[in-house]
Amino acid sequence: LKFRITILSENTVSPGRKGLIGEHGLSILVESADQTILFDTGQGGALVPNAREMGIDLTVVDTVVLSHGHYDHAGGLRSLVEVNSRFTLIAHPDVFNDKIARRDDGQYPIGMPVGRDFLEQAGVCLKLQKTPVTICRWATTTGEIPMETDFEAMEPYFFQRRGGRMVPDPLADDQSLVLRSDEGVVVLLGCSHRGVINTLKTVAKLSEGEPVAAIFGGLHLESASDEKLARICRYLKDFNIGAINAGHCTGMRAFLALSNAFPGRVFLNAVGRTATFRFSGH
Ligand SMILES: [Fe+2]
Ligand SMILES: [Fe+2]
Repeated sequence: LKFRITILSENTVSPGRKGLIGEHGLSILVESADQTILFDTGQGGALVPNAREMGIDLTVVDTVVLSHGHYDHAGGLRSLVEVNSRFTLIAHPDVFNDKIARRDDGQYPIGMPVGRDFLEQAGVCLKLQKTPVTICRWATTTGEIPMETDFEAMEPYFFQRRGGRMVPDPLADDQSLVLRSDEGVVVLLGCSHRGVINTLKTVAKLSEGEPVAAIFGGLHLESASDEKLARICRYLKDFNIGAINAGHCTGMRAFLALSNAFPGRVFLNAVGRTATFRFSGH
C-alpha cells in the first residue's frame, strides 16, 4: 500500500507552482487506495481552489481530522461541506470551545467558524474523543497530548470563554495524526500547541519507539527565545527525524535554527508539495 501526502493549505506556496494560493492556515491531504484523510482544512480560502487546481477530488475524503479548534485549521470546513459532507470528523471534545486570543490590541475570537449543529445538519458524522482514534491499519490520531517537558508551555494569550468567564485555554484539543510507513512513522502536526517534543514523546509511546520518517506541519515556535530553540533542537535530535517539513506557525527564526541544526533534513512545508510513502505491514 502507498499513501500520498499533499499540502493543500499553508502559509506559503511551493515556488513555481502557478495558480496555487497561500493563507495563514494548514491542511494536508493523505490519499491511499483504501482511505482518504484530510488533516485540517485551512482557514477557508485555499482548500477548495487549491484542490481544484491540483486536480484533487475532495468528494472522496472519508475522514477529516482536526488538530485543534482554531480558525486557521477548521475554517475550511464550511467550504468542504459544500462539496462533500459524507465524512467522519475526528476531533477532541474541546474543539468547539469558545476560543479567544487576547493581545495588546484587544481580544478576538479564534475558534471554530462552524458549530456542531451546522456540521450535524450537513450530515457530517462527529467522532469526538480524547483518546487516540484508529482510522485504519496505518493511521491513528494521538489523542490528547500530555504536557511533560518543563520548557513547553501554553502561550499566555490563548483564552476560552467558559460560563461567561475568561479562563486560560490549555488547548487540550491539540493533537496530531500518525501514519505508519516502512521507513517509520510520519507525523502530521497542526500547530503543536502542546509542544512538539511532548507530541513526539506521545507518538513514540503510541508507536512503541518506531523511527520517525518525517514530520509535516507547524511547530509553533514563532515567539520562542533562542534558548528555547536550542533546547528544542537538542531534544529533536533524540528522535532522529528523517525529514522535518516545517511550515505554518513554525516561524522564520525557528526554521533557520532547525535548518542549521539538521543540515539537509529541513524543508519548507508549502502548498503544492507532495510526498509518497509505502506501508507493507498490517
Ligand atoms: Fe492554533
Ligand atoms: Fe495554526
